[in-house]
Amino acid sequence: MAILGISAYYHDSAACVVRDGVLIAAAQEERFTRKKHDAGFPSNAVQYCLREAGITLSDLRYIAFYDKPLLKFERLIETYLGFAPRGIHSFLTAMPVWLKEKLLLKELIQKEILAGTQGISKRELPPLLFTEHHQSHAASAFFPSPFRSAAVLCLDGVGEWATTSAWLGQENSLEPLWEIRFPHSLGLLYSAFTYYTGFKVNSGEYKVMGLAPYGKPRFVQSIYDNLLDLKPDGTFRMNMEYFDYCAGLRMTSGRFDALFGGPPRDPESKLTQRDMDLARSVQEVTEEVMLRLARTVHQETGAKDLCLAGGVALNCVGNGRLLREGPYDRLWIQPAAGDAGGAVGAALSTWFEFQNQPRTACETTDAMRGAYLGPSYSNDDIEGILRGLDAPYTRLDDESLYACIARELAQEKVVGWFQGRMEFGPRALGARSIIGDARSPRMQSVMNLKIKYRESFRPFAPSVLRERVADYFDMDVDSPYMLLVAPVTEKRRIDMSDADRDRWGIELLNVPRSDIPAVTHVDYSARIQTVHEATNPRYYRLLSAFEKLTGCGVIVNTSFNVRGEPIVCSPQDAYRCFMRTEIDTLVLENCVVAKKDQKIGQKDDSWRTEFVLD
Ligand SMILES: [Fe+2]
Repeated sequence: MAILGISAYYHDSAACVVRDGVLIAAAQEERFTRKKHDAGFPSNAVQYCLREAGITLSDLRYIAFYDKPLLKFERLIETYLGFAPRGIHSFLTAMPVWLKEKLLLKELIQKEILAGTQGISKRELPPLLFTEHHQSHAASAFFPSPFRSAAVLCLDGVGEWATTSAWLGQENSLEPLWEIRFPHSLGLLYSAFTYYTGFKVNSGEYKVMGLAPYGKPRFVQSIYDNLLDLKPDGTFRMNMEYFDYCAGLRMTSGRFDALFGGPPRDPESKLTQRDMDLARSVQEVTEEVMLRLARTVHQETGAKDLCLAGGVALNCVGNGRLLREGPYDRLWIQPAAGDAGGAVGAALSTWFEFQNQPRTACETTDAMRGAYLGPSYSNDDIEGILRGLDAPYTRLDDESLYACIARELAQEKVVGWFQGRMEFGPRALGARSIIGDARSPRMQSVMNLKIKYRESFRPFAPSVLRERVADYFDMDVDSPYMLLVAPVTEKRRIDMSDADRDRWGIELLNVPRSDIPAVTHVDYSARIQTVHEATNPRYYRLLSAFEKLTGCGVIVNTSFNVRGEPIVCSPQDAYRCFMRTEIDTLVLENCVVAKKDQKIGQKDDSWRTEFVLD
């Protein structure tokens, strides 16, 4: 029995197909349309998932949508009434879209699905089911996890009403325990600081987390005293006088601005110490809330393991602290923790809860298949595409490929690595990655300035052989989805000289802090991806070849895209990105494309803009 899961119309639309409880395919629409965070109906993702599963619409038993539009509408109306007449402007902005499209969601979804298919009528469409937003998050966190029983915490901005929810997952059921409702939201608190420090809400949160290590937590008390009434059990209420997201089109109010000494930072202006201190402060508060909530659910359920989802679960610094300081034996975090993952949750909830199918959780591996759930291309496909592009290349056998690319990495070359099925979720995990030598002190700035065309305060993330993770980091668990931050081990750290200590803010990033400087943040932390032979054998073998050559089992991994663009999906996307940047070598499965062999006329600089701090 096949179920199509869909999340759409908010941000990061996505689709997936689950067959007999097994996740067959999942992808975000942005990868196909090349429009970052595309919120439109995921027509391309739906078509891809059906193709991958080898089925058509008429083979589907259900279509499951990740939230309930009527409940969301109720929240919108009640919020407006609670603040009226303030908020009329944002209310009037939102209403036409709701009345025209979202309330008629069932018809809209049916229309969109039928538009992409021929030979099927509306009457033949499978039934459409709607799960609640947090139920979708909870299902995406628990059902693919390796646990038969676990506590589940969902933390996000907002769906319908819930912003925080706690569940007990047992076998094929999820029991709701309690929830915190809009407007009180840890995700929206973080987004308010994201907005205030000049970054984009819903995507810049990651930057605030990366900025935090440069700051001092000097606003923490002020946040507790004024913005957030945090109880010992981790539940909280926010003082809405400081926020404007209920009634206005901004995140923060004038009172918020006054409390922190001025208006939000202009995105084009320079970052100041105050921005860094604000980032550090909201990060600390977020971690504290996460820890307290996790302890409370532990006391209530006695569960040994914890599952997480919702946008806040992408806060890998907070997750790292939960792992080290929390009461749980194990953590499992849905890699597509944001709303894209809701598609997976909706489909799995339909299978396990609605259809009451038994669960066969495996205690050693999860059911996300390393998140490699997207399209792949054969060597023959790729050769055809490269010939069509008139791009010279060499096809190598597997062993020569790993040895050749390991050598290139050791020579400080930057490599575009395109292998197997594309990742589902926001992170590149060695299927669509740009990689380099983590030992190189210049790799950080080379990759930022010549590839990503940005100046950055964030270090890159390390990919490390699972068996070697404890040799490099103070952590010895699986982290296949780059969702845990841990410190570089003491013995690898380099102490700062007194002169370096005087450097200000982001200048510190250029001071090597360990023997793998390209992946070490200023506070010695690293955002770790453990690489597993079972889920990504080719990436694992490349890392093994690099270790054999250099003695180092870690490389730099950043997503295969340039600033402002979604991660590449097809070989054509990869080749275009390769030609637009100073990536030295492009590897498409077994085909190796060297920049020096490409025709000069193919180099495309047209899109390049000025350097931006990212
Ligand atoms: Fe959400």
